[in-house]
Amino acid sequence: MRDYIRTIVDFPHEGILFRDVTTLFADPRGFRMAVDRMLTPYLGGRIDKVAGLEARGFILGGAVAHQLGCGFVPIRKKGKLPAATISESYQLEYGEAVVEVHDDAIEPGETVLIVDDLLATGGTAEAGVRLMQRLGATILGCAFIVELPELGGRVKLETLGIDVRALCAFEGL
Ligand code: PRP
Ligand code: MG
Repeated sequence: MRDYIRTIVDFPHEGILFRDVTTLFADPRGFRMAVDRMLTPYLGGRIDKVAGLEARGFILGGAVAHQLGCGFVPIRKKGKLPAATISESYQLEYGEAVVEVHDDAIEPGETVLIVDDLLATGGTAEAGVRLMQRLGATILGCAFIVELPELGGRVKLETLGIDVRALCAFEGL
């Protein structure tokens, strides 16, 4: 999996190694392998919705939902969704970001898998978890292609009782 992911040095600013999954998405074998591996643990179980985190979580989440034969719910950056929403904020390196979901996107008791490309600090995924919990979802877990263990995202989510799965990890920031 790691071989399909490109590393860009000093993006978005100096000292950061950016793990770029567009090279994985662009490769037919890489993309299929990533989607198949993400959904394998959930085959045979009851899963009502995949919730994808904007933006790269949409690319993966749509494919995963299609393969599982379930619905897809977009968790979007603030101001993009047209109907009534609920929102959660999370910390960025500088300042704060807000994500939203339609308040009728999930029926209470539905089982949901949250999908994104990468787990770093876990702030984005935690906000997604809170949104789903507020709608009464049962969260099956959070699935990522990449995790950066040094940034603590797995610990943050597991502390909340969330099952975390990542297809690969990169050490070094
Ligand atoms: C990146 C990545 C994850 C998030 C991980 O998205 O795609 O969604 O950061 O970081 P965290 O675990 O520290 O929250 P970004 O916010 O850059 O937006 P994008 O996916 O819309 O490009
Ligand atoms: Mg993202």
